[in-house]
Amino acid sequence: MNKDFSWQKNIFYELTDLGKDILFSPQYQILFTFRKHGKTTTFEHVLMVAFYSLLKVEKKKIKCDKKSLVRGALLHDYYLYDWHRKGHPRLHGYRHPGFALKNAQKQFPLNNIEKQIIRRHMFPLTIVPPIRKEARIVCVQDKKCSWRETRKKNPYEKYKELIEELKRKMENPNQSENTICANEGKSI
Ligand SMILES: [Fe+2]
Ligand SMILES: [Fe+2]
Repeated sequence: MNKDFSWQKNIFYELTDLGKDILFSPQYQILFTFRKHGKTTTFEHVLMVAFYSLLKVEKKKIKCDKKSLVRGALLHDYYLYDWHRKGHPRLHGYRHPGFALKNAQKQFPLNNIEKQIIRRHMFPLTIVPPIRKEARIVCVQDKKCSWRETRKKNPYEKYKELIEELKRKMENPNQSENTICANEGKSI
């Protein structure tokens, strides 16, 4: 395994640790069932937006609230319907940040950074720009991930095993209590 991937793997585990309250909430698994772009599910999309946002912060050594960054990214598309199917709300692009915020607030306590990440992630389609550093990072990474998902056949092939491992742990949280780790070999 090359050094760069091993570093990325640790960032992925850091993300699962920072976002564990959301990831291990049973209701959150509903995102496994919705399609986002191409073959990518909404779960894979929000997870990868959180991952690339955290990767950016770690790479550039940007000082920010990493936990809010990850939590906001994980919930930014929590609108809970498949926009490919008939009958979904009209003007999805404009309205889904509001739906996502409403759903997320019902289930999780959110701070102002997390709320802004969700509410403003569709800028410039929606008019109000993200001001907080964390919200700006997620807004950019969301667009980059959407581009990857639309243009590439298997955009997250490199991280497939990590994603599948996480899904197994989310589906069987009791079995994995001691194996979710922030770094390889380190229990939390
Ligand atoms: Fe979105
Ligand atoms: Fe998104």
